[in-house]
Amino acid sequence: MTSQRFPLDEAVAAVKERIPVSPEVFVVLGSGMSGLAGGFRDGVSIPFQEVPGFPEPTVSGHAGRLVFGSVEGRPVLLQAGRFHFYEGHDPEVIVAPVRMAAGLGAKTVLLTNAAGSVSPNLAPGSILLINDHINLMARSPLAGPVLEGEERFPDMSAPYDPSLQTLARESARDLGISLPEGVYAAVLGPSYETPAEIRFLRGAGADAVGMSTVPEAIAARALGLKVLAFSLITNQAAGLSEDPLNHDEVLEMGQATGGQLEKLVRSVLGRIDT
Ligand code: HPA
Repeated sequence: MTSQRFPLDEAVAAVKERIPVSPEVFVVLGSGMSGLAGGFRDGVSIPFQEVPGFPEPTVSGHAGRLVFGSVEGRPVLLQAGRFHFYEGHDPEVIVAPVRMAAGLGAKTVLLTNAAGSVSPNLAPGSILLINDHINLMARSPLAGPVLEGEERFPDMSAPYDPSLQTLARESARDLGISLPEGVYAAVLGPSYETPAEIRFLRGAGADAVGMSTVPEAIAARALGLKVLAFSLITNQAAGLSEDPLNHDEVLEMGQATGGQLEKLVRSVLGRIDT
């Protein structure tokens, strides 16, 4: 393998010249959750085509742009539309936005996703505070040469920052949002799981299942960034309900209930002590 093929320095430079100050927090929005990106009054919007190396997302519900703005007085860079392994991208493309955000000065990464509930206690429409994960994607964004500033063997005993989780609980309590906590299992996709796979995941300790987030969390930890992550539960996983799964319903649920998550994210952004 050669050293880095993704033009990270160019991507950082291209975004840097468009934004007035360094972002403190980098936020990744999951499927159907671009509401937050539209909410910036003073936002600078940068389509992915204008960032060297960024492909256009191939999945509907994942508009591709970065938005810089202030949320609760804090400079934030937001990614609307993300890259997934199931699209066939190289690992370095999937985590390029996190590495770019670190290059721009962000110290905290807030990840959101749409997920299916593996636990019967998580109803569609609820928000899950991810307190741990299981990587079942059978790959890591860190395989290959070690990039400058990253650790070869990052500790993952607390991938989701305990003090950020405390802030999230406080925000949820103040907003009257119930915030169950649990384990997110990341699978490659793009087919949804079988009922047997969901029973397997349940037995393994997963509460929710999805096809993203874990690569970004791993790259962020390797860079020493703090991570907080939420799942918006869009559906019951396979076998837990009679209904077959489809992406449009996942998107619809994301749009219908994403407002709560947006409020929660805004509130957490206001509390982060950077
Ligand atoms: N499985 C995997 N990924 C998902 C699901 C699911 O049920 N819902 C939303 N993303």
